[in-house]
Amino acid sequence: MRVAVCPGSFDPVTNGHLDVFTRAAALADKVIVAVLINKTKSGLFSVDERIEILREVVSPLPNVEVDSFYGLLVDYCKDHGVNAIVKGLRAVSDFDYELQMAQMNYRLGGVETLFVSTNPLYSYLSSSLVKEVAKHGGSVEGLVPDAVLPKLQAKLEAQG
Ligand code: PNS
Repeated sequence: MRVAVCPGSFDPVTNGHLDVFTRAAALADKVIVAVLINKTKSGLFSVDERIEILREVVSPLPNVEVDSFYGLLVDYCKDHGVNAIVKGLRAVSDFDYELQMAQMNYRLGGVETLFVSTNPLYSYLSSSLVKEVAKHGGSVEGLVPDAVLPKLQAKLEAQG
């Protein structure tokens, strides 16, 4: 069985991420969307909230599951029989850092990284921009899965 992992912060998941999961799901027998537990950076959504949202969003994709991880991605890959890391490349600006991580992950754990070219519809999209736009009252409809919209609104209202 070929297992792929899509790692990230997903704070929150965007339609760009979902596009990558969908395409990875067509390439691998099983895809694990793995949320990084970052103990030094608290996000807008807690890791548990992100996992809950992700599970809802990937529910139409039968071979995709959601998990979290702490520490090195290569250790997660080893422990879970992961054959490849799948990432989206939005633009050349992503390339340097992604290549660096891919090379380091190959050196550390012999894990391959496969890049899918992000759908141009989402090439400018990031979780940070979504949060900033939503925070200042802009519409992010169509940029995040519909399930995210009320949760984002509620979170930002609670923050004041
Ligand atoms: O969505 P993000 O925050 O851009 O995702 C970054 C992520 C989670 C893919 C990356 O930070 C990561 O893999 N972190 C785990 C720690 C690790 O393995 N670091 C070495 C990578 S070369």
